[in-house]
Amino acid sequence: MFENRDYISLSVSDDSVRKKSFKRQWNQLSRFQKNLLLVIICAAIVTIVVLIQGQDKLNLFRSSTPSDHIIKVNEKINIVPLKDGFPSIFPQQFQQEDDQLPIPGEWDEFDKVRPMNEGADKLITNKVKKNLDNPDKTDESNTDHDNQKKSHIRPKDIQNQIQETNTQLNFKGPTNERQRAVVAAIKHSWTGYRNFAWGHDNLKPIAQSYSDWFGLGLQIIDALDTLYIADMQEEYDEAKRWVESSLKLDINRDVNLFETTIRVLGGLLSIYHLTGEDVFLSKAIDLGNRMMPCFDSPSSIPYSDVNLESMKAHAPKWSPDSSTSEVTTIQLEFRDLSRVSNDPSYEAAAAKVSEKVHNLPKTDGLVPIFINANTGTFRNFATISLGARGDSYYEYLLKQWLQTGKKENNYLIEDYQEAIAGVIKHLRRETPNEHHVYVGELISGKDFKPKMDHLTCYLPGTLLLGYKNGMPQSHLTLANDLLETCYQIYMKQPTHLSPEIAYFNLEGESSTDIYVKANDAHNLLRPEFVESLYYFYALTGNKTYQDMGWTIFQAFEKYTKVTHGYTSIGNVKTPLNLRPKDMMETFWLGETLKYFYLLFSDDRNEIDLEKFVFNTEAHLIPIRDHS
Ligand SMILES: *[C@@H]1O[C@H](CO)[C@@H](O)[C@H](O)[C@H]1NC(C)=O
Repeated sequence: MFENRDYISLSVSDDSVRKKSFKRQWNQLSRFQKNLLLVIICAAIVTIVVLIQGQDKLNLFRSSTPSDHIIKVNEKINIVPLKDGFPSIFPQQFQQEDDQLPIPGEWDEFDKVRPMNEGADKLITNKVKKNLDNPDKTDESNTDHDNQKKSHIRPKDIQNQIQETNTQLNFKGPTNERQRAVVAAIKHSWTGYRNFAWGHDNLKPIAQSYSDWFGLGLQIIDALDTLYIADMQEEYDEAKRWVESSLKLDINRDVNLFETTIRVLGGLLSIYHLTGEDVFLSKAIDLGNRMMPCFDSPSSIPYSDVNLESMKAHAPKWSPDSSTSEVTTIQLEFRDLSRVSNDPSYEAAAAKVSEKVHNLPKTDGLVPIFINANTGTFRNFATISLGARGDSYYEYLLKQWLQTGKKENNYLIEDYQEAIAGVIKHLRRETPNEHHVYVGELISGKDFKPKMDHLTCYLPGTLLLGYKNGMPQSHLTLANDLLETCYQIYMKQPTHLSPEIAYFNLEGESSTDIYVKANDAHNLLRPEFVESLYYFYALTGNKTYQDMGWTIFQAFEKYTKVTHGYTSIGNVKTPLNLRPKDMMETFWLGETLKYFYLLFSDDRNEIDLEKFVFNTEAHLIPIRDHS
């Protein structure tokens, strides 16, 4: 065998002397040796051909491959042209040089030099206005919706869509020091999880142990697309193998519909879209089916919990109510599940919830944070908040409209615009001395409380995304103001890490304009502010947002990193008394580190925000273009 190999290597040489000696040696071989050699050569050729074909197939979905392969694959793909409709929201000049980009204080100026965007603004504003003038519009969107269901996507269309999507994604791994530092943090977190919590939901890095919540290996699924985007092939492969061989969905366990949808269903759909691997699709469909009984409630407002084995759904044990944000933050995922599975029932069930909530009375678009699945009404005198239990209701109004190509469900964007106007009217305040703008809460739906959850720091990013898609100037102003306040909440702590909740000086009762109560001083490694910084960087190209993020990344490194991972801490106010909580939440790898990685990218369009929306757990859902 060894000798034969020598012959093969000789045969590929161009050298004429060697050719001669090859011929002589060939003639010296016995018939058996010649046949054996021919068989080996044939086998090698067949193997190489099969490998190359397999490689091509892989390249459709995998990007860390030689660039010549990618070019070849791209040529084969039929890119579906964008259909007419709304003009591009990202005009050419907006995508060009960084030094042509707006300084936040100068956005007005900037608007003047971007006629295309101005046109888009007008178009959408007119459309929204028309809809508000014409209440029948809701019926019209329902009809659109039905038509879309009838002419549902055929499998071939899905294939085209997937291929189109994949041509846009080419993850090459980190390209600078900051991104490399994030990849090191991902590796460090992943290694701790793999060594001490593999297959469980959360890592407890200090006890070198784990905790389970749903028993679904949450961390693996939440991290899959992060590993993929950061081009961590080895880690991605082991995560994928676990999903293939060990993810069990028929478990006798009550899981929360919202959490399971955004983390597990969203995570599976996202990685399916990035890779085209069928295993993720079939798991997503199985999971979707197991959660569908939640929608069998008297009011069509879903129950909050479901047993994945018995498929029995029920309200939470502690209350008859579901959280408003929970029942309205499943639609991106269920709609996408319908599209990839060619089964409209998921989207229909989730869309019914949106329609139901749309028809309930609100306070200038603002919603109470509890809703009853039996009666289908909001709880009387419940708090109004853009923090816990309210936040992503507003986020998904905008993102659902974006997901459907801004062509259906116009009532959602009308509700969004009304709600943000309501925020500005009822919840926006400015502190008396340092003039920090913040968004407070209405207790019992009416009494203002100068309190803002860190969760609310998602809002500046979402507002900017909306502004770029035609929402009014007031949204941009609020976005800039809130981003600055959120940054100050971090910077005013000696650790440069945000507390879970901040309070604001209302009318001089406090000596500082921003203050933190002892019980609210914990940091759970949450992503919301980094998420907003990412949108600001991706949509403006201004590198200041990267620098802000770098300061915060270093603070996480300094105060939350432990030997076997990263941990939540109990106190951001005193570096010498951090009170580690020994918990690495799955969103650290799923969201926070993913947004850091993308924020530090030299290519701010690494993810094309015209082609994808991030779900509320930072998983990617493609935007579909409908006629
Ligand atoms: C970038 O953003 C920062 C912070 O909002 C601002 O102060 C600065 O002027 C901006 N720079 C440019 C070039 O737009």
